[in-house]
Amino acid sequence: MKEPNATHEKAQSFFEGLWRRGDPWELETSEFEQAKYADEISILAGRRYGRALEIGCGIGSFTRLLTGPCDSILALDISPTAIARAHERGLHAVEFREQNIMHFDLERERPWDLIVLNETIYYLGWLYSFFDVAWLATQLFDATATSGRLLMANTCGGLTNYLLRPPIIRTYHDLFVNVGYQTTLPESKYSSAICRAAPQWDS
Ligand SMILES: C[S@@+](CC[C@H](N)C(=O)[O-])C[C@H]1O[C@@H](n2cnc3c(N)ncnc32)[C@H](O)[C@@H]1O
Repeated sequence: MKEPNATHEKAQSFFEGLWRRGDPWELETSEFEQAKYADEISILAGRRYGRALEIGCGIGSFTRLLTGPCDSILALDISPTAIARAHERGLHAVEFREQNIMHFDLERERPWDLIVLNETIYYLGWLYSFFDVAWLATQLFDATATSGRLLMANTCGGLTNYLLRPPIIRTYHDLFVNVGYQTTLPESKYSSAICRAAPQWDS
């Protein structure tokens, strides 16, 4: 596990500043976000997930919906304010934890039946090196139970946000395929991708 460093400080201060101002991405109120959440939950339907890991959970807007198909959830976010607000939801069987995913000991806490990575990977790609992001993807694959899944949603496109440019967003999807996940469903209009881990190790 890497030690906290200047990049961590920069990332935490950036996201903490946003969350202190309210709901910067309008996750609670935007029709687009609500439709995307519903789309993702429908992708998950048809099976139960024992242990789920949600990366970049924010104030727990999607976590709340994950409590349906998941038995227990560890939801991480780098922002202390977001985590404090998520706690206030009082969700059963959810642990909200202030944690930078780049410093999280995936080896120690695996395996996960479901890993959720919504609208967060492009921020990691913005602040961390290509190798760091690719290494995280590798570790996430290793930490996914044999029949587990990764669910990722990324807004794709937009004129002003360079982080969301389609070739870049598609590259993150390809990265997860390259580390071993298999796409089991076509991408939806919300650019959700659900992948199943190929057998690698038994939980
Ligand atoms: C656009 S928000 C998405 C929130 C949530 N996943 C959703 O879609 O409803 C991105 C979130 O990622 C968190 N985040 C960014 N970098 C992170 C990191 N290195 N580790 C953990 N969380 C991070 C931010 O604080 C923010 O809450």
